[in-house]
Amino acid sequence: MPLTVFTHTEFDQHEQVIFCHDPSIDLQAIIAIHSTVLGPAAGGCRMHPYQSVDDAITDVLRLSKGMSYKNAMAGLPLGGGKCVIIADPERSDKPELLRQFSKHVQQLGGRFWTAIDVGVSPADADILAENCDYIFARASQYPKGFDPSAFTALGCFSGIRAVAKHCWSRTDLHGLRVAVQGLGATGADLTRQLCEAGAQVVVADVDDSAVESVVDQYDVASVAPSVIHAQDVDVFAPCAMGGVINDRTIDEIKARAICGVANNQLADDSHGIALHESGICYVPDYVVNAGGIMAAGAMIYSNPTMDESRLRAQRLYDTVLELFKKSEAERIPCSEAANRMASARIGRS
Ligand code: NAI
Repeated sequence: MPLTVFTHTEFDQHEQVIFCHDPSIDLQAIIAIHSTVLGPAAGGCRMHPYQSVDDAITDVLRLSKGMSYKNAMAGLPLGGGKCVIIADPERSDKPELLRQFSKHVQQLGGRFWTAIDVGVSPADADILAENCDYIFARASQYPKGFDPSAFTALGCFSGIRAVAKHCWSRTDLHGLRVAVQGLGATGADLTRQLCEAGAQVVVADVDDSAVESVVDQYDVASVAPSVIHAQDVDVFAPCAMGGVINDRTIDEIKARAICGVANNQLADDSHGIALHESGICYVPDYVVNAGGIMAAGAMIYSNPTMDESRLRAQRLYDTVLELFKKSEAERIPCSEAANRMASARIGRS
């Protein structure tokens, strides 16, 4: 049977998949709306020079379902969607490409709202908004220089506090040993918060200047990126790329818990089961990296203050504890518990 969107391995009863084309500017983009059960679908706009259209379809189907689950677990009145523009974000005509693309989002009349993602910055979101009423996380919505990543880092910090409560009945993080992988927008800010809370932090990044900057500011140790997952710590916090929990690394992980923001940390679902069987508490990435969308997504239906956004991200503490409870009660991996909770909330159980 020829491959179609409907038979694609990543297709999961998506409500709508829209292919957008404009030959005058060589626009090729795809919008995928996974679910609008909880509210208008919301998810970022990614600009990436995909090798093939099939790679772009795979990404947008997977990411849009991820947004349904993330928004559902975050308790937001939002469904899940995502869009991808098949283009190099360094293209000189990027602003015009964004303007043309946003007309397609406008035509959906608010069924789908989009925002920043890889290759699309808050300043780019302002360009999208020139022709479209359904754009959030725009630079103009934030105080100067602010970025939703700070809320993502705060959500993860709150998740680590929940881990400490669950695993060691602790309410403070003093002396807790944490390994942070990746010191970009989220990892560096998470490191700051952990240090301020008295945790003992070890860090790694492939970018030496990122390590230097963090080591200069905080009392942390650094190790080579190849061994950060294998540190003798209480919590491993992946804040770089996906697939870090895989056949090669899983037996080397010594941490009692894993709680970080990197998307798609498990190379595949079997690793979630393996972590559970090894007694390692794994907080699924899409649960604990929702702080950014909780803050930014609220702009769709309200006008939150910074303090309200901070409070929202901190509520991930309760979500993570609820997840551990379900995992224990049903004797299932945390990854499976989260999938069941999220799919039930969008009526797909
Ligand atoms: P970023 O691009 O600002 O930082 C990533 C850092 O990881 C960079 O400093 C990079 O040099 C480093 N890195 C890359 N490969 C590495 C490796 N093998 N070992 C160690 N360090 C490595 O990214 P950001 O915004 O901090 O995001 C991190 C992760 O969290 C990504 O997977 C992202 O998709 C995810 N995420 C981020 C959100 C946000 O609000 N920024 C929201 C939800 C998820």
